[in-house]
Amino acid sequence: MLDEIRNFPNACKEAFEEKIKLPASYRNVNKIIIAGMGGSSIVGDIISDIFDELKFPIIVSRSYNLPHFADEKTLLICISYSGNTKETLEQIKNGIRKKCRIVGISSNGKLMEIFNRRKLPFFLIKKSNTIPRVAIGYLLFSTIKILHSLGFIKVDKINIANNPEKDAKDVTKKINGTFPIIYSVYPSVAKRFKTQLNENSKIQARWEALPEALHNDIEAFGSLNEKFSLIFIRDKLNERKEIKKSIEFLKRIANKAKVVEIFSKGKSKLERILYLIWFVDFVSYFLAIENGMNPQETLNIKKFKEFVYGKPNL
Ligand code: F6R
Repeated sequence: MLDEIRNFPNACKEAFEEKIKLPASYRNVNKIIIAGMGGSSIVGDIISDIFDELKFPIIVSRSYNLPHFADEKTLLICISYSGNTKETLEQIKNGIRKKCRIVGISSNGKLMEIFNRRKLPFFLIKKSNTIPRVAIGYLLFSTIKILHSLGFIKVDKINIANNPEKDAKDVTKKINGTFPIIYSVYPSVAKRFKTQLNENSKIQARWEALPEALHNDIEAFGSLNEKFSLIFIRDKLNERKEIKKSIEFLKRIANKAKVVEIFSKGKSKLERILYLIWFVDFVSYFLAIENGMNPQETLNIKKFKEFVYGKPNL
C-alpha cells in the first residue's frame, strides 16, 4: 500500500490523460450528482471543496436512492471502484429511469457491464488490482476529467510538488494512542482522514467542519482530556481571519487534549487540497503499521457485504 500511496501524483496525472467522449447533451444540465459509497464517493466531496467556479450544485449521494430532484437536467456520475456496490447499482437504475445524463466509472464489475450493455458513457479505471480507497488518484481524476471535458471546470496542470511523507510520520507519532477529532474548513479532507483512520488504521475518529463546530461541538470541550487529539487541517492561503481566530480559541479551550496542526503546501487550491489528502493518507498508513494493523484488509466491510448481500463484492 505504501508504494501506491507514494504513487498518488502519478495516478492523478495518468487518469487525467485518459480520453473520454461524452454526448454534447451532457452539457445541458443544471446540477451534478455524484453517486457512490465509501472510498469511491469521497471524490464528490473533494471536487466540491476544490472547484469554486462550478456554476451549479454538486450533490454527493450515498444511498440506495437518488434525491427526488434528479431528472433529465442532472449529470449523474456513478462511481464504484469494484463496480459491484449494491447502493451504487441501485442509484444507477434510478438514474436511468429518471433519464439523468449518466456516466459511469469503475475498474470492473456489474457497473461496467450495465454501461457497456446500454452503450452509456463509461470511464474504465485501468488500475484494476488494488482497493477503492487506494485508487483515489484514479477515481478523482477520472471524475475531474469528465467535468473538465464538459467545460464545467478548468484544470491547467496537475502539479503536486510537495511530498508530505516525512511530516506525516511526525504527525503519526503525535496522535498515536489518542482519539483524533479532526477540524477543517475542507470537509472532504477531514472526512477522508476520518475514514482512512477507520479503514487503514482501524481506530475510531471523528471530524467536524469549521466554522460549524464553533456552534455546537465546542460545548463538549469540557470533557476533553489527554486521550484526545485535536487535529486542525489548515490552509493559510484560504483562511478568513475569523477562522484563524476561531482556531486560536479552540486551542485555548482544548483542555489537556493534544493539539496538532497540519498545514497545506502548494500554490493553487487544487494543489493544496491534494497535498492534504495525500498527507492524511500517509498518516493513516503509518499509524496502522506502528500499531501492527493490516491497513489493506477491511474484514468487517467484507463481512457486512456478505451478510447483507450474500456474496463478497470488494
Ligand atoms: C474499500 C473502501 C470502501 C469501498 C466501499 C464501496 O477500500 O474504501 O469504503 O469504497 O465499500 O466500494 P466500491 O468503492 O468498490 O464501490
